[in-house]
Amino acid sequence: MVRNCREVKVREVRFLGAWEEPGDFVELTLENPDWDGYRPGQFAMLRPKHWGLELSWGRPFSISRADADSVTFFFQVVGRGTARLSRLKPDDEVIIWGPLGNGFSAPAETPTLLLAGGMGIAPFRGYVEKHPTPEALRLVFAHRASIGSYPYQLLAEAIPAEAVHEKSPDDLPMIIERIQNEVRGAKDGLVLACGPLPFLKTVQQAAREHKVRAELSLERSMACGVGACLGCVCKDGQNKHVQVCARGPVFKSDDVQF
Ligand code: FES
Repeated sequence: MVRNCREVKVREVRFLGAWEEPGDFVELTLENPDWDGYRPGQFAMLRPKHWGLELSWGRPFSISRADADSVTFFFQVVGRGTARLSRLKPDDEVIIWGPLGNGFSAPAETPTLLLAGGMGIAPFRGYVEKHPTPEALRLVFAHRASIGSYPYQLLAEAIPAEAVHEKSPDDLPMIIERIQNEVRGAKDGLVLACGPLPFLKTVQQAAREHKVRAELSLERSMACGVGACLGCVCKDGQNKHVQVCARGPVFKSDDVQF
């Protein structure tokens, strides 16, 4: 088992606002703890100061974007922690630690396909904003909830983008085939994927089959975010256990097993 605890900056920042989108999706903005230099794909742990012992752990969120004044996260309300985060009030203070983990590669001029599944769209907002040559980027977004629930339109205004809607389980084979074809078509470039596990597995298999360079961002439950609790372990390409928070959350496609 690899332990890789790292020193991490913990800050207290003010809550600036939250916008609820249809379907319990929330965009949460906090005062920026000087993270302009974060790397898209990195994440942060959040814990409001007033949470009591009944919610003793922070919650991990991919950083959606950051500017000089604020840092933004995008999530869906799925439990007590996210529900309470969605109800923060002006000037509530939040303990935040990060930016954590590694991030996506951003090679200039390389044709890069962004594959997002559902909530996996979150890190790509900042990725597009910070990329040195955004004209080399294209997005394909597979989603179940209504398109207005996600920050898709903001991305579609910045780069070529297409959305594929899974309206029912019957649409799944069509979506899988579409992802496979997209990966195959990206042979001379780079594929970056973020989404649920079956989505990532599809990307990984297609990338392996067609020898396409790909990076995958993994989602895991996390408690510490810094490699100390071993709560987020997966197996790497050599069959060794590694912590997703410390070695990921972004892995080269062949460096992780599902
Ligand atoms: Fe604690 Fe990864 S080791 S969350």
